[in-house]
Amino acid sequence: MSDSPIIFEELDPDPRLLMGPGPVDVYPRVLRSMATPLQGQFDPQFTAHMDQVQVLYRQVFQTQNKQTFLINGTARAGIEACLTSIIRPGDTVLAPIFGRFGHLLKEIAMRSGANAVSIETEWGKVFTTDELEAAVKKYKPSIVAISQGDTSVTVKQPLKELGEICRQNDCLLYVDSTASLGGNALPVDDWKIDIVSAGLQKCLSGPPGSAPISFSDDVAQRVLDRKHTEAGIRPEGVVDADGPIIQSNYFDLAMLMDYWGPQRLNHHTESASMLYAARECARILLEEGLDACQARHRLTSTALRAGLKAMGLELFGDQDNLMDNVTGIFIPKQCGNGAKLRSELLNDFGIEIGTSFGPLDGKIWRIGTMGYVCRQANVLRCLSSLEMVLGRNGFKCPQGAGVDAAYGVYQNQ
Ligand SMILES: Cc1ncc(COP(=O)(O)O)c(C=O)c1O
Repeated sequence: MSDSPIIFEELDPDPRLLMGPGPVDVYPRVLRSMATPLQGQFDPQFTAHMDQVQVLYRQVFQTQNKQTFLINGTARAGIEACLTSIIRPGDTVLAPIFGRFGHLLKEIAMRSGANAVSIETEWGKVFTTDELEAAVKKYKPSIVAISQGDTSVTVKQPLKELGEICRQNDCLLYVDSTASLGGNALPVDDWKIDIVSAGLQKCLSGPPGSAPISFSDDVAQRVLDRKHTEAGIRPEGVVDADGPIIQSNYFDLAMLMDYWGPQRLNHHTESASMLYAARECARILLEEGLDACQARHRLTSTALRAGLKAMGLELFGDQDNLMDNVTGIFIPKQCGNGAKLRSELLNDFGIEIGTSFGPLDGKIWRIGTMGYVCRQANVLRCLSSLEMVLGRNGFKCPQGAGVDAAYGVYQNQ
């Protein structure tokens, strides 16, 4: 072995246009915010920024929930924090499964000690409200855990009435809004969602690594009933609650409430650069306006879908319940599992799109139009590049038809 250190070259990756199911390109303002010099976690300026993040995400989630803050980690860290803190061993948790992430919620519930039960529908479909209500009545769960949008299947589960159904049946509603928040409506309080989590790397257009969450006072009380403060930081006189200890220390919402609350009781070291990113993501979203941002996602998906159809491609999934930020298309037969075309799009045109998982692996492509990426120029660039790649691989589209159809949608808006 040589004596010289192995140091590799300075990072300089090729520019990409990230039009897969996420992560997507990060807003330049968010990238700049991440270069903000750090402060100590108890510096009053830094704790003021933590408070601001809470105010910002209450608006993003459209909630009055006092308990609204960030979990450090990717979106599934947010899911684990929510589920592991509210599930008591033996609780029945109903996880309706309409794609990959329903399975994930069920698994996390099971790992948290729940009696995890599920109903399933074919990938690409969603449940009717009646089906959900019937399952709640049948299983009598303490918690229903469901994704709003599941990127694996590109469909969106209508949730407007589920919160009320849960209330009437004395159970809590947890919603994973990782893939949908920002690009699709999610008024948490109006829809009576008790606890919700998200991630930054989809419509919020930040980097993966921070998970905004929010929960009601009732959920907070349920968590506090199991509060066990870590011995080394426990203030004098504080006694543990009677309820069963939350299995995870890192994801213990009871301790996290003390860290984010006025006590500022140390827990982890807040991931400052990710907090700056999350703060900027929310500022950008709120500056644009929730309705305007959703409308932009809807318009862009409509244009993309019009273009894909005009090219002779078939859209995947229940067309009445599509997410407004990611589009599935069947891979044409001539293109096998589509991997060669995806790599040509990436290497020759610099555009990333995705396939899916499980039964849809190699069957569909998924094209994301989220956050910073969600704009006309990218739709047109993607459609024209896809037309070239398809043509070179035996699927001839009418020349320019995709771009023309997408243009038409923008012109007629
Ligand atoms: C609906 C949904 N939930 C959870 C996740 C997991 O997110 P992460 O990979 O950030 O942990 C994703 C990621 O695509 C998702 O789409």
